[in-house]
Amino acid sequence: MNAATPPLPIVILISGRGSNLQSIIDAVASDKLPVEIRAVISNRPAADGLQRAAQAGIPTAVIDHSLYTDRAAFDQALLECIEHFQPGLVVLAGFMRILTAGFVHHYQGRMLNIHPSLLPDFPGLNTHQRALESGCKQHGASIHFVTEAVDGGPVVLQARVPVQQHDTVTTLTARVLEQEHRLYPLAIRWFAEQRLKLDGAGHAVFDGEKLTGPVILTPESGAPC
Ligand code: GRF
Repeated sequence: MNAATPPLPIVILISGRGSNLQSIIDAVASDKLPVEIRAVISNRPAADGLQRAAQAGIPTAVIDHSLYTDRAAFDQALLECIEHFQPGLVVLAGFMRILTAGFVHHYQGRMLNIHPSLLPDFPGLNTHQRALESGCKQHGASIHFVTEAVDGGPVVLQARVPVQQHDTVTTLTARVLEQEHRLYPLAIRWFAEQRLKLDGAGHAVFDGEKLTGPVILTPESGAPC
């Protein structure tokens, strides 16, 4: 990390447990991720991740989706809340809401999501169960830029997890989550270091090269942050 470069301000959106949030908090705390987490915002007041943020001294906010009559009104309130913190990057970390086109456009190229599958396989919910039912041999997790297509934006980084013969949803979920916690701090670091971008045509670019597929994080890659 270059000490002369100010840390990138980010805002993290969550809906629940916040283990990915924790992996980002931990990477920042150990000086391995050059970002300033300006706020953690949840659409659910009871999200456990809010406690994690508070314990780390990070400002929190709740924009409760159930109090809004429609998606557009919720997204507008969320956007206003985010803008208050002036982030250079919005990080969706287990944020379980479909976002409107206007919201997505506003943060085009400045919003990342994590998804527990090897996209484009298994967008949407219940990915681990669907992976097991499909009989696929490899599962995993993906980081992608957010576009209007749900779980459909350019994938920038993936970790693969072999499916084992006796895997259950619980065992597979746990092994994928372990990889998620490696992936997200790394992708955010690349973005903060301006190594990772979305170009004007909507292509992901890494180290100046247009990505034709995601970077694959292997077990041998070691601790990324
Ligand atoms: C993660 O598996 C993430 O990929 C998915 O929702 C889960 C959130 O977990 N979108 P956590 O709240 O980060 O622990």
